Amino acid sequence: MSNKNVNWSDEKWKEMIIKQRVFLWSEDAIEAYSKWLGLRQGMRVADIGCGLGYLGYTYWKYFGNNGHYIGIDINEDLLKDAKATSPNWAIGGTAEFIQGDVYKIPLPDNSVDMVMCQTLLMHLKNPEHALAEMKRILKPGGILMCKEPDNISGMTSRRDSSSEDRSIEYEVLSFKLTLIAYKGSISLGRGDTSIGIRVPKMLSDLGFKSIDMRANENVHLLLPPYETKKQRYSFEQLKERINKNEETKEKERQFWKERFKEEYLAGGGALEELQQFEKMVEEEREKNEAILKDQVKKRIYHSCGGNLFFIIKGIKNFD
Ligand SMILES: C[S@@+](CC[C@H](N)C(=O)[O-])C[C@H]1O[C@@H](n2cnc3c(N)ncnc32)[C@H](O)[C@@H]1O
Repeated sequence: MSNKNVNWSDEKWKEMIIKQRVFLWSEDAIEAYSKWLGLRQGMRVADIGCGLGYLGYTYWKYFGNNGHYIGIDINEDLLKDAKATSPNWAIGGTAEFIQGDVYKIPLPDNSVDMVMCQTLLMHLKNPEHALAEMKRILKPGGILMCKEPDNISGMTSRRDSSSEDRSIEYEVLSFKLTLIAYKGSISLGRGDTSIGIRVPKMLSDLGFKSIDMRANENVHLLLPPYETKKQRYSFEQLKERINKNEETKEKERQFWKERFKEEYLAGGGALEELQQFEKMVEEEREKNEAILKDQVKKRIYHSCGGNLFFIIKGIKNFD
């Protein structure tokens, strides 16, 4: 089953797969990965859980000449949008979009040269089943590429920021509660937000060969005077976020707070400790928000850190 708690065409979620994608992978990394993956012009490529077709337009340059892209997603609304924008990028080849479930991919056995997916497995209750389906539709010798994060590692990789100075007590409690909520989220069937590190073994268990893995240089860097395009984009996003009206911000906070609570309790966490943490979060927010606003206004805010986002490949064996 997929994660029924998330409808990716709802504004809140859809915004994520638009805004977070703008500078997700750098151009030079995409070029290097294309070589490493063995992409060739004219390939027939299926993108499962394609959303708005991000992987299609990102890698098109490396397979699209006489190539064939098949975007598959369970969400019809996203597919409509993806289809509408595809003539802008799918030039010199074909792009089609089909509604379908990863657990029953609407494509024949041994029919595509490559299967790709990004941030799909992390939302699934049964990623092994999904990967077995992907293998079924791959031709022997075909390539599978999965891009999935390890979000828990992001908790331990610290961020240097001019507006945050969190106490050790806060950091430790935050990490502990997040680990509990992470376990809870899996038990609720919401998927595994750190699945990236588990994918190679899953591929191996399914009989894939030549399994290999890279990590994205997924850094967050904001350093005045924000010289790169990516930094200017991130700075605008930050401004937009902090300048939202208070009511909207409060609504969003409540949404995430409730979701976290649900997952934390499902993971076996104690309510008292959660309440203690919520109090700390509130105090930190009060302290840091004003500093952040002021620094952003003066354009002196800086922040630097990174998250792990893996790219994993495997080849379907000739039996
Ligand atoms: C986080 S989005 C990623 C979209 C796209 N791959 C990207 O990186 O921009 C997850 C996508 O998986 C799709 N999805 C979730 N469960 C699915 C399922 N069981 N079968 C097919 N697609 C599914 C969602 O509709 C959504 O578009």
